[in-house]
Amino acid sequence: MENLKPMLVLGVESSCDETAIAVVEDGTKVLSSIIASQTAIHDQFGGVVPEVAAREHLRAIVPTFQQALRAANVSIDAIDLIAVTQGPGLIGSLLVGISFAKALAIASAKPLQPVDHVNAHLHGALLGVKNIDRRQLFPCLALVVSGGHTNLYFMRHETDFRLVATTIDDACGECFDKVGKMLGLPYPAGPKIEVIASSGDRSRYEMPRMIQEKSRLEFSYSGLKTHMVNLVRKIGKIDKETMADLCASFQEEALGQIIRKLGHAHHKFPAAKSIVIAGGVAANKEFRRRLNTELKIPSYFPELSYCGDNAAMIAALGWYEFNKARAAGLAVEDNSWDAYPSYNFIKHFGEIGG
Ligand code: KG4
Ligand code: ZN
Repeated sequence: MENLKPMLVLGVESSCDETAIAVVEDGTKVLSSIIASQTAIHDQFGGVVPEVAAREHLRAIVPTFQQALRAANVSIDAIDLIAVTQGPGLIGSLLVGISFAKALAIASAKPLQPVDHVNAHLHGALLGVKNIDRRQLFPCLALVVSGGHTNLYFMRHETDFRLVATTIDDACGECFDKVGKMLGLPYPAGPKIEVIASSGDRSRYEMPRMIQEKSRLEFSYSGLKTHMVNLVRKIGKIDKETMADLCASFQEEALGQIIRKLGHAHHKFPAAKSIVIAGGVAANKEFRRRLNTELKIPSYFPELSYCGDNAAMIAALGWYEFNKARAAGLAVEDNSWDAYPSYNFIKHFGEIGG
């Protein structure tokens, strides 16, 4: 008979500039989610410095682990599975989390499940969907919009990720950060641009619209970034009002492109019942407002605490992947796998299409 005891998963995340550990029950109930952010350290350099990030992970990972167990009120003995980010991410940062998780799995005799960070972001969004049966969401269009990714998937269920579009150059969050840096804003600039834009005139500066063909779902942000570079140079001295109008006009198109593409994607994938949005940019309130008013399909967003990098999303997807592998009779005890530093586009591009 099937063992119905809840399964506790310890999630470990260290792919970029957040050291995070979480304890999640059965892929859905978060018992603790601790995030040690390095943002303030990298702020002084204007972006994440990989070597600094790796060293900070090394310093933070053990206290974060201890804090996550304490907050969940469990000991390591109570954990049934360890899930860790395998990639993509900064290699030095990934190696800290992976080595920690591998050592912990051996020392505590627990199984270890490697997890894809980008796919896991979508589980961050799913963790925030309350009071609705998950089956009512699927199949869905699922968007990861962060500092490293602008990926659109068609998902039939929790472990089915079919990539249907990605960016051909910069990611959306990356564009927010680069434009913000040029305007003298500290890293990460996305949240600051949102605040400044709220008092600006979004129609003052006309922005270029990239890849307008309805048949093409890919995203592109380098043209918008270059346009902003040229515009800022032309304006010269930027007063407070101009700054607000620049941020508002930029944000209008940075978010507008995604909303248009989601509209086209809905035409191409009419079976989709909902849109699930994940990643750091999903924290943007104007983005949420526009998605809810401009699209004919319900959108779901993560709670703010699951928008950025966190380990609850890693534990959640880890639980689904582990059970899928176990149900298929696949070996889950082989821990000789490596980190992967970049997304496997070639594999996924083969699957793109309607
Ligand atoms: O998912 P995340 O925490 O890290 C990864 O990139 O994996 O996303 C961080 C990104 C940064 O580029 C940041 O500027 C952007 O998300 N971001 C925002 C907002 N909050 C965070 N962009 C626009 N508006 C926001 N409110
Ligand atoms: Zn992320």
